[in-house]
Amino acid sequence: MDVTTYAERRAAFMERMGEGVAIIPAAPQSTRSNDVEYRYRQDNDLLYLTGFPEPNSLCVLSPRHESERFVLFVQPRDREKETWTGKRYGTEGAKEVFGADAAYTIDQVKEVLPGHLAGADRVYFAPGRDERMNTLIQGLLDASRSGRARTGRGLVALVDPASLSHEMRLFKSAGELDLMRKAVAASERAHAAAMRAARDGACEYELEALLEYHFRAAGGSGMAYPSIVASGANATILHYTQNDRRMRDGDLVLIDAGAEFDGYCSDVTRTFPVAAGYSQPQRRIYETVLRAQKEGIALVRPGVSMEDIHRRATEVLVEGLLDIGLLSGKAGELIEKREHARFYMHRTGHWLGLDVHDVGQYRIDGAARPLEPGMVLTVEPGLYIAEDLDGVSGDYRGIGVRIEDDVLVTDAGHEVLSAAIPKEVDAIEAIRREALASPGPAPH
Ligand code: GLY
Ligand code: MN
Ligand code: MN
Repeated sequence: MDVTTYAERRAAFMERMGEGVAIIPAAPQSTRSNDVEYRYRQDNDLLYLTGFPEPNSLCVLSPRHESERFVLFVQPRDREKETWTGKRYGTEGAKEVFGADAAYTIDQVKEVLPGHLAGADRVYFAPGRDERMNTLIQGLLDASRSGRARTGRGLVALVDPASLSHEMRLFKSAGELDLMRKAVAASERAHAAAMRAARDGACEYELEALLEYHFRAAGGSGMAYPSIVASGANATILHYTQNDRRMRDGDLVLIDAGAEFDGYCSDVTRTFPVAAGYSQPQRRIYETVLRAQKEGIALVRPGVSMEDIHRRATEVLVEGLLDIGLLSGKAGELIEKREHARFYMHRTGHWLGLDVHDVGQYRIDGAARPLEPGMVLTVEPGLYIAEDLDGVSGDYRGIGVRIEDDVLVTDAGHEVLSAAIPKEVDAIEAIRREALASPGPAPH
């Protein structure tokens, strides 16, 4: 994204604010262990509005201020620290590169922010994950509020800035869609490689390593969320990330993995056999999930809601389970009594963007929200038959299948961004046959 894009977003955000002051803090740096930190990931609202990538920073937007409508507080330049942890933009960079009207060092918040707060009766701020910053800002807000008794001016309303930024983030611009397509393209290469590399006796983490190689090799920042490589009954554990089992010939492998590119996420799941083909029970479950997923995707268009998609996908899954004999009774009544939840316990999709479970309301004034062009969502039904599930034929126990695509809502309907990643039974079996026929080690 270029500087103009961020400037336009801030202008749109400030337009929605009307007046008042918005305070958007950076994400804190997280410790992994002792003195080792995780690679830094900026807070998505700050990233969306400024592109500023550094920790220990804070953005202030004051639409009514004469000269400082956009202010950044940043880490000071520090030759010694920069030798250890990398270059900092400093206050000069904050102005020159990121277009701030004014920039201060982060230790100046206490001196400078009260000037911005004076006279603002509405402040957009929500405590974040950085406790020290929360305490500092809360103290300044309290001071502003108590001043009101004396001066008649000061804070009366505290509003969550997410009410503005999250609605904006829900609708993707052409530039954002470009980045999401790049994230999906990296996932496509990764899934294709993993689908070819599975072998009897190989470990799940070998596929995990391969996926993540492709995420990075495509120029992405890595995984959008911890990759799930779940073979055999591990596929029935929804958030399995141990990825340390040895896969066996008769297993299915469920891979839920997506690349992140310039902050934007992809989120894709495929489920394929280690053998050259699906077993009969595996195929029946797989085809049911595939049907539910395709019917769900077919519904995606402006005016339809996520709830409509979930309802239809659930119906198709239940019809399939009735057909197979894993449920008995009437589809409508079974769904009413949530009998399907033994096999299908999650929702059919979520928004996708800078966050993998992206921001934005799913319901408005208590009603399911209609889809609109520019939204991106996942469609990801699944069936999970736990190994020890009572009342289920042994043939079906330990089978877990999910199929997940990333779908853009368009004026005319939808576009499946991840359509190039194979999911038809014939296509997947052809890939597996070919992979197993090629001699030598698993291809990378
Ligand atoms: N990978 C998380 C999800 O599918 O929602
Ligand atoms: Mn998902
Ligand atoms: Mn997923």
